Amino acid sequence: MATQTRTEAQAKSFGQNIESDLALEFLRVVEKAAIASARTMGQGARKLSDQVATEAMRETMDTVPMRGTIVIGEGERDEAPMLYIGEKVGAKFPDGTEVPEVDIAVDPLEGTNLCATGTSGAITVLAASERGGLLNAPDCYMEKIVVGPSCKGCVDLDAPVSDNLKNIAQRLERDVDDLVIIVLDRPRHEKLISDIRQAGARIRLIGDGDLSAGIAAAVIGTGVHAVMGSGGAPEGVITAAAIRCLNGYMLGRLVINKPELEQRIVRMGIQDKHRIYTADELAPGRQMIFAATGVTEGALMRGVRFFGEGVRTSSVIMTLNTGKVRFIESIHLDKKPDVKVRFA
Ligand code: FBP
Repeated sequence: MATQTRTEAQAKSFGQNIESDLALEFLRVVEKAAIASARTMGQGARKLSDQVATEAMRETMDTVPMRGTIVIGEGERDEAPMLYIGEKVGAKFPDGTEVPEVDIAVDPLEGTNLCATGTSGAITVLAASERGGLLNAPDCYMEKIVVGPSCKGCVDLDAPVSDNLKNIAQRLERDVDDLVIIVLDRPRHEKLISDIRQAGARIRLIGDGDLSAGIAAAVIGTGVHAVMGSGGAPEGVITAAAIRCLNGYMLGRLVINKPELEQRIVRMGIQDKHRIYTADELAPGRQMIFAATGVTEGALMRGVRFFGEGVRTSSVIMTLNTGKVRFIESIHLDKKPDVKVRFA
């Protein structure tokens, strides 16, 4: 109606498009967590780094207009004081405007050791979707292969490593020995590493952080062509959200190797423990927001920089439906009368 004010119109439609209404809200959440944890960089205190990131993320989450549910978080209700699975987060509008229901997967500090040692690759990260849009994965390992858009469908978790590498190389129009594969440096990957070496591809072993590595594999120009090996399943779901936004390709299979995990997945409604999930199945939501901020330096985002007038952060926000990949450089200024902003 002509008499309807803009605010009323906005209020009416708020929340119908989670991506456009909440993407920048979630940017604030990951930025705040990154700034808090970056203050502890290099202090050798991984638990503290994680704790301050979690507290900052939790606090900021409660300023976002939504009825949020944490579906992947810091643990079960009885083992994590906040951002536990099932926790309700978010704010209401004072005027009663309806707020959207959102499922959220968080990793307040991905790469706690990286932050504690000041090593590159630590990020704060979350994915958000409409209810049911993110697989509620248990806290176990997941076997993963992550590749970019050109390699869709050309890899298989059960195929020999050499075949996967040959297929990736073919799609990328290069030789196998030109490929760079990221693998978590773990004893469990001894055979995988030996197979990759035997096939002739190059390897970048990382101490932690297969989530940001997965994102790098789906972005051309990062010098990373695939991530292989097993890492956290919760990280796998969040990676899948990013991979969908980047049009990449990912396969994941839960590693269910203990009786308590068997019981856990039954309770979670997962029937086939051998199932291989694609990114679309790990993060099936129609609407998807992925938000991350660099804590330490990384391939796609710089680390947090503190300077006299404030703080500088580097983030990526991606949305699936609205098809946006935003690299955001924010300067958070202290309130000083003579504050100065530098361009770069
Ligand atoms: P944290 O941030 O919780 O320390 O996890 C980092 C990480 O390296 C993930 O990137 C990865 O998926 C997982 O841990 C691997 O687990 P593990 O260290 O047990 O091999």
